[in-house]
Amino acid sequence: MSTARHLTPLDRVLVEAQRALDTVLGAPAAARPNPARDVAAIELDEPERHHAAGLMRINHVGEVCAQALYCGQAAVARDPATREHLLAAAQEETDHLAWCADRLRELDSRPSLLNPLWYAGSFAIGAVAGLRGDGWNLGFVVETERQVEAHLDEHLDSLPPADARSRAILRTMKADEARHADHAEAAGARPLPAPVPALMAAASKLMKAVAYRL
Ligand SMILES: [Fe+2]
Ligand SMILES: [Fe+2]
Repeated sequence: MSTARHLTPLDRVLVEAQRALDTVLGAPAAARPNPARDVAAIELDEPERHHAAGLMRINHVGEVCAQALYCGQAAVARDPATREHLLAAAQEETDHLAWCADRLRELDSRPSLLNPLWYAGSFAIGAVAGLRGDGWNLGFVVETERQVEAHLDEHLDSLPPADARSRAILRTMKADEARHADHAEAAGARPLPAPVPALMAAASKLMKAVAYRL
């Protein structure tokens, strides 16, 4: 992405718009095989299927938000190395996005209808965070990834016992998110001051409550 420095502001807006449309409307292709590919599908009853779909919709929205946060941060990052780091992280989230979308289809469900809204809100939050400087940018990545890791743990507990396919996906995602946080820490993340982590947790709680249904 070193060519990004030669783009005009309008080019950059168009690149971001294209990325947003791909995330929200497209079916992004995963670079790695789906972790559930060899896991037997066990028939779920209707309440189980409904609950699993709600949880996987939340996880799909979480990945839409992660893409948007990182792209928003990258759009304003001053240091090219930080920008590369953010865009690489966004790229890895594409696998998660594709796997969650696959599982939602298997569960006869669909992604959140509010994805354009989640994307726009997260992009704006990412850009504001990014304007505070690169140490903050990476601190924001660490906090996001740690919070996602914690909620993946909750979902691993809450999924119907028979839903081994969703669980296989979430386990791989959890390992990836932990690695993303470790990398950002090693790259020089600054811890975020209060009340930023609490505000992020409140925003994600609201998102989860809505995305489970919508
Ligand atoms: Fe992810
Ligand atoms: Fe991540």
